[in-house]
Amino acid sequence: MTTSAVPTAAGSGSAATDKFKSNRITSDTSPERAAAIYKDVLSKLGEVIHEHEVTYQEYRVLKQWLISVGEGGEWPLWLDVFLEHFIEDSNSRIFNGTKGSIEGPYYVPDAPNLGSHATMPMREDEKGTALVFKGQVRDLDGNGIDGASVELWHADSDGYYSQFDDGLGIPEWNLRGTFTTDSEGRYSINTIQPAPYQIPHDGPTGEFIASYDGHPWRPAHLHLKVTAPGKRLITTQLYFTGGKWVDDDVAGAVKPELMLDPKPNDDGVDQVVYDFVLDPVSDPIYVA
Ligand code: DHB
Ligand code: FE
Repeated sequence: MTTSAVPTAAGSGSAATDKFKSNRITSDTSPERAAAIYKDVLSKLGEVIHEHEVTYQEYRVLKQWLISVGEGGEWPLWLDVFLEHFIEDSNSRIFNGTKGSIEGPYYVPDAPNLGSHATMPMREDEKGTALVFKGQVRDLDGNGIDGASVELWHADSDGYYSQFDDGLGIPEWNLRGTFTTDSEGRYSINTIQPAPYQIPHDGPTGEFIASYDGHPWRPAHLHLKVTAPGKRLITTQLYFTGGKWVDDDVAGAVKPELMLDPKPNDDGVDQVVYDFVLDPVSDPIYVA
């Protein structure tokens, strides 16, 4: 592992690629459905090429760029920033519970289980404003769910994720935890406010963003996976009202239902309550 003051796209991207490749992903998509999707993708791409009369030189530049995204390990970054929100949106329309949002490339399963009222794993000198994040997990009828699982992961106050820090030395499970709701379905987590996150932009993803004069920022966010036996797993993110980049997220993943507005509690610590509502598992079972 290299040591660098600022994680590079190649470092974070390769870690995300390795993590993704460690699972073999399959889908039971029928050959007919796959063929229909492939045909449509190609014909829509063809339409764009015709419409813009894309030249051979431009085609070769595209080829070169696609190759370098792969070589830099940046596909998880690029896909989760620019495409995942369409997938999430089209999958979540029919559900009634808490809104989902993209998973992003930095989820790691099996974070330490810490109970219902606990503190996120963090460094002794973890920088950042303390935050109490608490609430209840309920079913569609409003009943609290005992034993629901709340997985939380987020960036530190510099915007870096543990296990994807390109050698910065952040402890393995820093700011990653699994919580289990109490008998009333409640949870309470002590953590710190994450900073806005800048997708690594010193590689081909950065070139892509610069080419349309964009910026690489996501607003500060908490990532969550919430589920319970017999309930649909929800993957989502929560954002901070008034935060920088909330209205201009490079990943297009902010939703008005997913906002937090922490206020000081009696101890003067910023606190926010967010309740999750879970749909029953439908048939066919959908797992995000
Ligand atoms: C990316 C990073 C994130 O933290 C996130 O939530 C979404 C996308 C990325 O770098 O691709
Ligand atoms: Fe993120």
